[in-house]
Amino acid sequence: MGYSLVVVKYLVASFPWSSDVGNDMANALGLTHVVLETKQFPDGESYIRYPIDVSTYDGLILIQRAYPEQNTRLIQVMLAVHAARDLGVKQVHVVLPYLPYSRQDRRFRDGEPVSLQTMLSLLSSLGVSSIITVDVHKPEAFRIANTQCINIEPFELYANRLKGVENVVLLSPDIGSLWRVRKVSEYLGVPFSYLEKFRDRVTGEVTMKPKELDVAGKEVFIIDDIIATGGTIIEATKILKSLGATRVHAIATHCLLLNMADSRMFETGVSSITCSNTIPTRYSEVNVNQLILNVVRGLIT
Ligand code: R5P
Repeated sequence: MGYSLVVVKYLVASFPWSSDVGNDMANALGLTHVVLETKQFPDGESYIRYPIDVSTYDGLILIQRAYPEQNTRLIQVMLAVHAARDLGVKQVHVVLPYLPYSRQDRRFRDGEPVSLQTMLSLLSSLGVSSIITVDVHKPEAFRIANTQCINIEPFELYANRLKGVENVVLLSPDIGSLWRVRKVSEYLGVPFSYLEKFRDRVTGEVTMKPKELDVAGKEVFIIDDIIATGGTIIEATKILKSLGATRVHAIATHCLLLNMADSRMFETGVSSITCSNTIPTRYSEVNVNQLILNVVRGLIT
């Protein structure tokens, strides 16, 4: 009795600002890579186009850095997924290194949507096979998704950067990121702690409860998923400096850096900012492309 091997022919397609991820992936996997054409119509609506005939492929890996302009870029993804499925592509794996709307993963106030679920449901209904992202705000929020969602943890890369640094203390700026510093600490065997943060759900203002921490004379590395306004890091830095920390460093996976957050962080006493390249910035010293590639390789081979 003979066995027949079904080989799925994959294409890598990326949006123009994500082509480095697509190039690395296609080169490593020996696949064709195309960059999608995009434009905006005069009324603001989005246009996308595959520059080749995608109907000759069984599978697609679609890569989109969905920040900035996350609303437009998510619509572009939806158009691209629907077009591919409509043209007969059976499997579409979507790579969104930064997943917009992930912080609204529950209903904080009556009448609000669970926006993350809205986004996942839309992609699922369009026929996405899987969604791959890096360091999502709360991985447990994926439990109720209808589509396979894969969260990539970049924590070993952060630990590698800290090897050899002395007097290190890791700090989570809130209880929600404690698991992140715990994981980095497991690679390094260094102490870690956390602060208690409160965010006003209407104004967005951040306050932190003062706390005794053993950080005097230490190099403190605050580790978080996102730096948006910088408010979280700034409030944490004020406390750490008042407790005698020698230097305070910020490490975050996704650096949105709104309203010159980096300048305000440095003014408050932050010594360095390190981000990943999920959102390219001048601080994107951690490249997660290989981690994404490893996951995609596992999905398609
Ligand atoms: C929230 O819980 C996140 O983990 C980050 O701490 C937050 O998104 C950072 O936002 P911002 O920089 O505006 O304080």
